[in-house]
Amino acid sequence: MTTNLQAYRGSLLHFLADPAFNEQSHDWHEDGLLIVEDGKVKAAGDYATLHATLPPGAVVHDYSGKLLMPGFIDTHIHYPQTDMIASPSEGLLPWLETYTFPSERQFEDSTHAASVADFFLDELLRCGTTTAMVYCTVHPQSVNTFFAASEQRGLRMVAGKVMMDRNCPDFLRDTAETSARDTEALIQRWHKRGRSLYAITPRFAPTSTERQLQLAGELAAAYPDTYIQTHVSENEAECAWVRELFPNSRSYIDVYDSYGMMRPRAMYGHCIWLNEHDRRRMAETQSAAAICPTSNLFLGSGLFDFERADDAGVLLSLATDVGGGTSFSMLQTMNEAYKVARLKGSYLPALRMFYLATLGAARSMQLEGTIGNFAAGTEADFIVIDPQATPLLQRRTSRSNSLEELLFALALLGDDRAIAATYAAGRQVHAREMN
Ligand code: GUN
Ligand code: ZN
Repeated sequence: MTTNLQAYRGSLLHFLADPAFNEQSHDWHEDGLLIVEDGKVKAAGDYATLHATLPPGAVVHDYSGKLLMPGFIDTHIHYPQTDMIASPSEGLLPWLETYTFPSERQFEDSTHAASVADFFLDELLRCGTTTAMVYCTVHPQSVNTFFAASEQRGLRMVAGKVMMDRNCPDFLRDTAETSARDTEALIQRWHKRGRSLYAITPRFAPTSTERQLQLAGELAAAYPDTYIQTHVSENEAECAWVRELFPNSRSYIDVYDSYGMMRPRAMYGHCIWLNEHDRRRMAETQSAAAICPTSNLFLGSGLFDFERADDAGVLLSLATDVGGGTSFSMLQTMNEAYKVARLKGSYLPALRMFYLATLGAARSMQLEGTIGNFAAGTEADFIVIDPQATPLLQRRTSRSNSLEELLFALALLGDDRAIAATYAAGRQVHAREMN
């Protein structure tokens, strides 16, 4: 049998454990080699050692001077909000009414959906993001269109149809029954087809009736290896609204808990206004938090508490939350996460941020061994980062005295320009234009 073997030389970084809790968290090879066979990682390590194992005549792509690392994973993003990114508003609820719902209405048209999906995915790849957990709209065709576009690029993506049967405009409202029926049909069509994975997606508690949440929970039980994604405890006005709508619930996240939606593969966006009981529940159910700093600062929603989340042992990852978020770049998302942590009196080392954007996210999604690091047999989704991408980055990184300093400069100063190339399942899906 012929195999397709490719090798890539460069400085190589990937994670084996969370740097917040382990001394030996990562694998770093200044002169490293990544060997990819048939779309999967065959080996990753020192160039000097691994080069000798290559078959005669194997091609080595030379990325010396650049960093090879696993593709970024963005655990919360809305593809239909691409065109309304950076829309001014005083907070979450007016922003939803004024910009979000009218933008999402346009996705009843599959041609529009297809053109946005293409742009959206290419923009993620330009930023080095190879996997995302993606909200579509209430329209089933918005999901079909999205997965078709991601399949065409060979990407591992998680996505789902928004379920929303109250407190929204008529033009975006489904019903409990139609949403459950459509969701089930979409699970059967897309979940685990190729690299696609399905997420049951009630938008957030205020836009679902109890009946819709109940049916979403039943689907989550009937299809236990699907994902669940929703928003929780993002904004104080939203939390007050949830208290009014669900007066018998112990807390906002308890609404989801009571319908069986706290379980492994459940991804909760924001998680700002949680209490200790909520965090404990997240940890014991292996529900995960998607931390969205650019969105939380932009909408004035609040500051994520890394220290309390870590004390409770909650699964953590970083996310852009475009279009509430203001950048597609996970580097820019790290930049803002770092500052959020500082404002809360905690400190996020760069190593931790790169962990959260790669292996931490894969673990949050129960996908370790599939994506997120360079363990042998994982899917070869990787990026090439250029520390000399801009004059300022070049100047700063040439003076960095440690890996931590190098990564920190990339996180604080980097963006899409720092991504020289992106590979999905061993195939190049983005190459930055050189000029
Ligand atoms: N809560 C409910 N829907 C949304 C949304 O689209 N974006 C954000 N940031 N929060 C939400
Ligand atoms: Zn969101």
